[in-house]
Amino acid sequence: MSNDRYPRIRASEITPEEVWLSRRDWMKTAGIAMASGALGGLPALGLAASPPALAALAAKRSAQYVVMDPSTPEKDATTYNNYYEFGMDKADPSNYAHTLKTSPWTVKIEGEVVAPKTFDIDALRKLAPLEERVYRMRCVEGWSMVIPWVGYSLSELLKQVQPTGNAKYVQFVSDVQPNNMPGLGARSIDWPYVEGLRLDEAMHPLTMLTMGMYGKVLPNQNGAPVRLVVPWKYGFKSAKSIVAIRFVEKQPASSWMKSIPSEYGFYSNVNPEVSHPRWSQATERRIGEDGLFAPKRKTLMFNGYGNEVASLYQGMDLRKNF
Ligand code: MTE
Repeated sequence: MSNDRYPRIRASEITPEEVWLSRRDWMKTAGIAMASGALGGLPALGLAASPPALAALAAKRSAQYVVMDPSTPEKDATTYNNYYEFGMDKADPSNYAHTLKTSPWTVKIEGEVVAPKTFDIDALRKLAPLEERVYRMRCVEGWSMVIPWVGYSLSELLKQVQPTGNAKYVQFVSDVQPNNMPGLGARSIDWPYVEGLRLDEAMHPLTMLTMGMYGKVLPNQNGAPVRLVVPWKYGFKSAKSIVAIRFVEKQPASSWMKSIPSEYGFYSNVNPEVSHPRWSQATERRIGEDGLFAPKRKTLMFNGYGNEVASLYQGMDLRKNF
């Protein structure tokens, strides 16, 4: 299908963050810089320049996919991360992922398809109208966030390549950059990080090919320049920094299934009734809400997306297919 009917992003719509910082923010930053200058502390420029500027990514807010809960503060969503290629601690990705090389970047669509194709990141940004969708995200470790993502349904990309009749599953492959990823030494994961979905899950409109968050391009620690977001499944299904998407006939193993098969299954749907061996899944702590006495929230079946996705699993025993 031709994608000519989709609006293109003009270069002028991708604005460096410092240009669109509001005047108030700018004055605050300048104020801090001046204060530090007056005290003879850190060079003003260094303070004002940090954190690194990210380009804005203009998107229309989705009419359909915006949860009502308040969004997690951007600072929390970008400093409390899992990206094991950069280390095991939650702060490691924001501290070390600046070394990730995100340009040039291509994503290969291959495997059981009539017309394999490679897209560069600019082509992906223009392939379909970018939408801002606010999704609930639930990590298997028992915490959750609410994040305004920017992207579009993965199906927009997948339908470009005509899967063959043999295509039953889709595998997602993250990048491996041996010189830039200090966490690759950890033997717990067999790199590259891989994940998978059944074809109907991958084609579901909620499944999002994501290039931005909070109105900007993705920060490296959140999976720049392009990642998956699957909001009704535990966060680890949402592979970061994707370089290949493969249509396959057999259910592909994911990195976590290979590492600890007794703990991680293929489906990994959020399910408060099926505990992980190490963590109950009945409740969750919302990041950013966590005072000492903040009550935990009840975890919802399919992370609250049951109306949309429960039918995909009709007749399946979700205790066995965890
Ligand atoms: N993708 C890659 N390549 N490497 C990872 O370590 N961690 C996963 C997932 N995608 C991971 C990954 C896990 S465990 C979670 S919870 C989410 O990314 C976290 O996404 P966030 O840091 O943007 O919240």
